[in-house]
Amino acid sequence: MKLSIKNKSKMNSPAFIYGVATASFQIEGDSGSRLPCIWDTFCAKPEKIADGSNGDIACDHVKLWKQDIDLIESMGVDAYRLSISWPRLMDIDGQLNQQGLAFYISILDELNKRNIKPFVTFYHWDLPQHLEDKGGWLNRDTAYQFRNYVDLVSRAFAERVYSYATLNEPFCSAYLGYEVGIHAPGLNCNTLGKKAAHHLLLAHGLGIQVLNKNCPKIKKGIVLNFTPCYPNSESDDDKAAAKIADDHFNQWYIKPIFDGEYPEIMGQLPASRCPEIEPGDMEIISTPIDFLGVNYYTRAVYSSASNEDGFVQEPPAPPHTDIGWEIYPQAMTDLLVSLNNLYDLPPIYITENGMAANDRLEGLEVNDDDRMAYLQSHLNAVNGAIESGVRIDGYFAWSLMDNFEWAEGYTKRFGLVYVDYQTQIRTVKKSGLAYRDFVMQRHSNN
Ligand code: FCB
Repeated sequence: MKLSIKNKSKMNSPAFIYGVATASFQIEGDSGSRLPCIWDTFCAKPEKIADGSNGDIACDHVKLWKQDIDLIESMGVDAYRLSISWPRLMDIDGQLNQQGLAFYISILDELNKRNIKPFVTFYHWDLPQHLEDKGGWLNRDTAYQFRNYVDLVSRAFAERVYSYATLNEPFCSAYLGYEVGIHAPGLNCNTLGKKAAHHLLLAHGLGIQVLNKNCPKIKKGIVLNFTPCYPNSESDDDKAAAKIADDHFNQWYIKPIFDGEYPEIMGQLPASRCPEIEPGDMEIISTPIDFLGVNYYTRAVYSSASNEDGFVQEPPAPPHTDIGWEIYPQAMTDLLVSLNNLYDLPPIYITENGMAANDRLEGLEVNDDDRMAYLQSHLNAVNGAIESGVRIDGYFAWSLMDNFEWAEGYTKRFGLVYVDYQTQIRTVKKSGLAYRDFVMQRHSNN
């Protein structure tokens, strides 16, 4: 099986950017050479991580980074989306850590040397623990600490970066971390999620403003995840339930950025669940951006319910991936088309898409046909949105390699490359080889 896209699609043009993505905590390891972060603390608590693991070694990328860039280059991609670690780059006193800085500058220089565009995300969930000790994202000051971090780092990186994203998936940081507690820092209270979300969005806006000043020529944006919400039946009640869920989980994070306001449901929420918005906040949050990063994996189906929220999520229908997420590519097209209708969007990059599979290393091969099928159907879904008039400029597969999958530890494999965690040997899976062939062929055809 080969990956391909219909002949005339812009996705076949060399101008369409293909990449692979990772995140600092998930791959770096060498936790002793940086400050502790909220995920170190969370992993140390009993029963939070499926296999009791942590990020101390992960993919040992701090030691193996050069070899990993060889791997990225061998895949023929145009770009690499990485996140940088705040607790590696910033000391407790809010100054740059020179060792951390040198590490990322080496990576950026190496990527540029090989013509691989660096797509850098400032925050992919690894908040320094000392900031969490002062309230983390519930403390408004964390947004200003973020601004300082973005300011110092972007000046030090100078022109080395192709594109900056402020945050990765603020929904996950806020909701999973502060409202339901399945991610770090593990707080579990429905009055906290939207307060944390507001400070994350404020941090985003402050970050964009500082980047506009420091590096006007570099593309700036944010990466949001979307799980499109579908009604369980055609009944008005289920449709209303899906709409409420969509406002809570999806629109809550995008509407402030493009419309400068939260969705209507805010009017129905008790005051205890509402964010504390200060004058000028929504203007900062809606500072224009150059691109929107969209992460898509699956959809969710909702029924109406007589609980406080008015909805319940139905168990995902088959087919599932190994992490239990429904495979439903049509929702990706629907999502992109609907976002494009709802908002005045800048160009979109698909910044994450991929699947967890029960991969097995057989000799020197991993025959992950299921992942190839997933990639093909989702590349088609992206193309479907482009054909409907949505401007999409690139696609990043999640992930370059198997890594620490948050609360699932090392039990779920999302990589195009298989990682043996005992030996740290990387083996390109069949899907990785197919992605390479697809991406490279595009250059030889044009
Ligand atoms: C996304 C995260 C990413 C990875 C994938 C599977 O929500 O951004 O780090 O864990 O899910």
